[in-house]
Amino acid sequence: MSQRFRTAAVIGAGTIGLSWTALFAGHGLTVRVSDPRPDLAEAVAAALTEFTPHLAAQGLDVTGLAERVQLAADVTEAVRDADVVQENGPENVEFKKDLFATLVREAPKHALLLSSSSAIPSTAFTGDLDDAGRILIGHPFNPPHLIPLVEVVPGERTSEDSVRAAVDFYTFLGRTPVVERKEIPGFVGNRLQNALSREAIYLVEQGVVTPADLDKVMTNSLGIRWATVGPFLGSHLGGGPGGYRHLAEHIGKSMKKMWAGLGQPSQNEAEQERLIEAVEKAYGSSTYSALAEARDRKQLAVLSALDSASKEEN
Ligand SMILES: NC(=O)c1ccc[n+]([C@@H]2O[C@H](COP(=O)([O-])OP(=O)(O)OC[C@H]3O[C@@H](n4cnc5c(N)ncnc54)[C@H](O)[C@@H]3O)[C@@H](O)[C@H]2O)c1
Repeated sequence: MSQRFRTAAVIGAGTIGLSWTALFAGHGLTVRVSDPRPDLAEAVAAALTEFTPHLAAQGLDVTGLAERVQLAADVTEAVRDADVVQENGPENVEFKKDLFATLVREAPKHALLLSSSSAIPSTAFTGDLDDAGRILIGHPFNPPHLIPLVEVVPGERTSEDSVRAAVDFYTFLGRTPVVERKEIPGFVGNRLQNALSREAIYLVEQGVVTPADLDKVMTNSLGIRWATVGPFLGSHLGGGPGGYRHLAEHIGKSMKKMWAGLGQPSQNEAEQERLIEAVEKAYGSSTYSALAEARDRKQLAVLSALDSASKEEN
């Protein structure tokens, strides 16, 4: 195990914090969890029961995993001897300002302070702090114990040592960290997701497809392609042997024309209600846990197949 990271604090044990907790413990870390939710013990126990098979399927030794997870009475107790803190509280800048002021005061001086924030750059909540060099974003995709990407986004005052330490930490956890050099709202992954969601909502609003059919289009085409090659390599291959240059020079013009015609959904109150009802009609008869279980099982199958295919390349 990396010597630098032995004890982790997880602050905020909702959707993301519970998943990180399992992943950290699955990699042998002692994990201290803090969250004021009254059902914290039950939520942690349920998450470990649900996620342990996912960790085992990724080849991790899950012996004694639950014993490595401890509940802390408050943030101070959780971070007291932490080497790394992963914050997953509400997506609210005032909350994060207050919390990080506590973290720099209470966590050991060597501890790396990471935030899972989806859209708030760390510069927005470290403005008044002296010790901002060790604070940065480590933004995962849900659920972080399964989806490999972590966007590592330094703030204006984050040190290069902290960026390297964050990359080392997430690599140690078997994740795929990508360092993003400019703070931009939504970072990269969520901007891409939102560009696609905007068009998806527009197409449903316009009556072109139903939500279920739109999902079918995605999972039977781009979803499969993009799990293997990203948009740029996909386009480079789309240009045939002439590559991206050929694609850009030959169909670039019509692509640009299409950008101008991409949709702006109205999503006024009535449209939003119609969309919610359409999504509920498609999926509302299944429970959240049944849908999440099916998603996680299929995502594990994709990861395992990609892992085997990568081994064949080497
Ligand atoms: N849900 C996602 O898909 C997703 C993906 C990536 C990143 N994120 C980010 O992760 C963070 C958490 O999101 P989530 O979806 O897990 O939210 P969530 O609402 O499920 O969990 C937030 C948790 O924070 C707890 N909390 C509130 N005050 C607290 C305090 N003072 N100390 C400790 N815990 C406190 C709440 O009780 C709750 O359990 C957000 O910043 C979000 O943007 C979410």
